[in-house]
Amino acid sequence: MSVLVVDRIGLLVTGDPALGEGPLGSVRDAALVMRDGRVAAVERAGAAGDERLDAAGRCVIPGFVDSHTHLVFAGDRGDEFAARMAGAPYRAGGIRATTDATRAATREALAALSAARRREALRAGVTHLEIKSGYGLDVETEQRCCGVAADLTEDVTFLGAHVVPAEYEERPDEYVELVVTEMLAACAPLASWIDVFCEEGAFDAEQSRLVLEAGRAAGLGLRVHGNQLGPGPGVRLAVELGAASVDHCTYLEDADVDALASSETVATFLPATDFSTRQPYPDARRVLDAGGRVALATNCNPGSSYTTSMAFCMALAVREMGMTAEAALAAATLGGAAALRRTDIGHLSPGARADAVILDAPSYAHLVYRPGVPLVAATLLAGRPVWVDPDFERV
Ligand code: NIG
Repeated sequence: MSVLVVDRIGLLVTGDPALGEGPLGSVRDAALVMRDGRVAAVERAGAAGDERLDAAGRCVIPGFVDSHTHLVFAGDRGDEFAARMAGAPYRAGGIRATTDATRAATREALAALSAARRREALRAGVTHLEIKSGYGLDVETEQRCCGVAADLTEDVTFLGAHVVPAEYEERPDEYVELVVTEMLAACAPLASWIDVFCEEGAFDAEQSRLVLEAGRAAGLGLRVHGNQLGPGPGVRLAVELGAASVDHCTYLEDADVDALASSETVATFLPATDFSTRQPYPDARRVLDAGGRVALATNCNPGSSYTTSMAFCMALAVREMGMTAEAALAAATLGGAAALRRTDIGHLSPGARADAVILDAPSYAHLVYRPGVPLVAATLLAGRPVWVDPDFERV
C-alpha cells in the first residue's frame, strides 16, 4: 500500500469547497496524499509518504475531464480547414470524408491512431475522457470503433446517428431504422451512452427522439449534439428526455436557457469548434447566471475541432464566452464529470480517483493568461505519474 505525496504545492485546487477557499476549494502550501489510486488526504506541505513529488510551489489542479471527443477516426481534413479559413462554410457533410477513411482502416490502425491521441490528451492534462463512435456509419465499422474506444475509456458513446451515410442519402428513415436495430444491438454492449446529432443536415427532432429512446431501452444513457449550426430543437429535446448532456449549445434561445436552468442536463460548450468553424461563440454566462450547469470539452475530431487542449478551450471560454478563469476550470473538471454523471473524478476530495495535474505555473489562471503554452509539468492518473515533463525534476 504505497503512499505518493505531491508536496510543496503552492496552490492546490481541490474542487471541493469544503476543503479550502472559494467555490474551487483552493488550499495554499499544501500536500496531496494519494493511496491505492485514490486521494487519501489534503494536508499541509511537508506530509509524509513512501514516494514524493516536489511541486516546488507550483499549482496543482484536478485532471481535466473531457466529456466530448471523437478520438476514433482515420484520415485528415487539413485541406477542409484551410478552405474554411479562406472563407468556405463548415458543413456537417464533411463527416462522410472521415467515414470513408475510417471504414478503410484496419482495427489495428484505428487502435494505434486513437491511442496516440489519448497519449496526446494525457500530456495536455486530460485524465478522463468520453469517446464517441460515429465515423463508421455501418454496423461493422461502428462496432469496431466502439471496441477501440472501449479499450481507452469507460465512457464510450455510440453515435451511429452522426449523419446519414452516402449510401442512405435518399433513405434517411431506413438508416435510422438500421441505427436503432442492428447497429444498436452490435454497439450497446460496448458503450454506456448513445448520442445523436440533432441538427439540420443531420437528424430532425423526430428521428433524434427515436434514436435516443431506442438507446435508453437498450440501457444506455443519453447525450445530444444540438444547436451547433443554428437554433433548433436539440437542447429542449435533450432536457425533455433527461439527457446527461447537450453539447455545442452555440445558438441558444431564451427557451433553451430556461429549459437548461430547470434541468439536470449539462450544457457542454465546445469553443474550439466555434473557433475552427468560424461560428460565433455562445454566451456561457447567460446559462450560468440562469442557474444552468455547464461543462467545457474539446470535441477532438478531424473536421470541426482537431485539438486535445482543454487549456485552449478554457482560454476561449474566458476571452469569448463570459466565463472567469475559475468558472472555466470548474467547467473543465467538475462540469465534465457532471456531464458524464460521475462523482469520482473532476475533484480531489478524499476518496476521489487521484487524477491530478501539476502545472508549470503558480496559478490555474496561467492556463488562460499564457495561451498556447504547454503548462502541464506532470499528469497523475489514479495516483501514478503517467506524463512527466523532462524538465520537471530539474526545477
Ligand atoms: O461535434 N457535430 C457533429 N459532429 C462533429 C463534427 C465532426 C466532423 O466534422 O467530422 C462535431 O463538431
